[in-house]
Amino acid sequence: MQRYTYTGPVDHTATFDPKKVAGKSVCFTGGSNGIGEVCVREFVAAGAYVAFGDLDTKQGEALRDELNRDGDRCAFIQCDVRDWDQQKALFELAKAKSPNKSVDIVCANAGISRSSGDSLWVLDDPNGEPIKPKLNIVDVNMIGTMYTFKLAVHYFRQQPQDEAHDRCFIITGSLVSFIDSPGNWEYTATKEGLRGFMRTVRRNSHEQGIRITYIAPGFVKSAIRTAEYEAWLTSRGVQFAEPADAAKCMLRISTDRTINGRLFAIVPRAHVKEGYVDVDREDFKEGKAEDDYFRETQALQLRIIEDKWLDNEGVRDSGLLKK
Ligand SMILES: NC(=O)c1ccc[n+]([C@@H]2O[C@H](COP(=O)([O-])OP(=O)(O)OC[C@H]3O[C@@H](n4cnc5c(N)ncnc54)[C@H](O)[C@@H]3O)[C@@H](O)[C@H]2O)c1
Repeated sequence: MQRYTYTGPVDHTATFDPKKVAGKSVCFTGGSNGIGEVCVREFVAAGAYVAFGDLDTKQGEALRDELNRDGDRCAFIQCDVRDWDQQKALFELAKAKSPNKSVDIVCANAGISRSSGDSLWVLDDPNGEPIKPKLNIVDVNMIGTMYTFKLAVHYFRQQPQDEAHDRCFIITGSLVSFIDSPGNWEYTATKEGLRGFMRTVRRNSHEQGIRITYIAPGFVKSAIRTAEYEAWLTSRGVQFAEPADAAKCMLRISTDRTINGRLFAIVPRAHVKEGYVDVDREDFKEGKAEDDYFRETQALQLRIIEDKWLDNEGVRDSGLLKK
């Protein structure tokens, strides 16, 4: 695999064959409802073996039973992404049950929104004690995704790098990593943080043959918000993107090994007919004077930080770092 270099946006209008994921082992967190559920269905329909984990066992087991009616195509396990051991069990399941005993494509999709309560937004009584925030959104969206990534790397490295296998990591982020969403503090911090995570990881991921991408849904119809809230948003002019287009984007990424280090928005079809598009804002480009300083600083970072993501390398110690 080549190191990440900017070669322009991915052409979202290009046709592709979803069936290229046939036989691959795919692992999803948060697969029981919403975007994750549609993805599980679409990846199974394309012939992949899907292992998915979710807190919601009732929906998860029902989905698994429905998809397995004509054979063993997917596996479900109860999994809280905040729990390392439960996530490890999900990866073990994916490896044990998939045709090649592998884990090829991993999507860190489980996430919760501020409808579950933003603990930074809460104002305490200024005359009382300050209340320690719970930061559950950080635990699920950020720490959960980092656990998923750490496990994905471990299992990716157990298998050969060949045509039959892949090492593809996809993060379900959010468009709030670009657009200010007032009152959405904890959630925005996690999704913007994951965007930064994708950008830094893409600089070394090739050293382990791993590709990493981020998808940023805007408003997508799902169980993340109530039907009443969805109707209210529609009445205020919100156009929803399709969860099927999030799945299509993930299939596109999964079937094209040249896609690495890119960020795709999932948008209403009225905006882009394919329902997804390469945002193309993650690189500083030639010919834009206001980008010059950032582009040069980026180039400098790549020159001065020589750490390689290889066995026995660790973080490079030039002897100049303060102990
Ligand atoms: N729907 C949107 O408009 C929208 C917009 C931007 C980003 N997203 C992101 O898309 C992803 C999927 O969201 P969705 O809209 O499909 O929501 P959803 O609520 O419909 O589905 C999320 C799934 O994650 C599961 N989940 C929640 N906490 C979990 C945990 N601790 N461990 C394991 N599973 C857990 C839920 O049970 C549910 O099945 C999330 O990361 C979300 O932030 C959604």
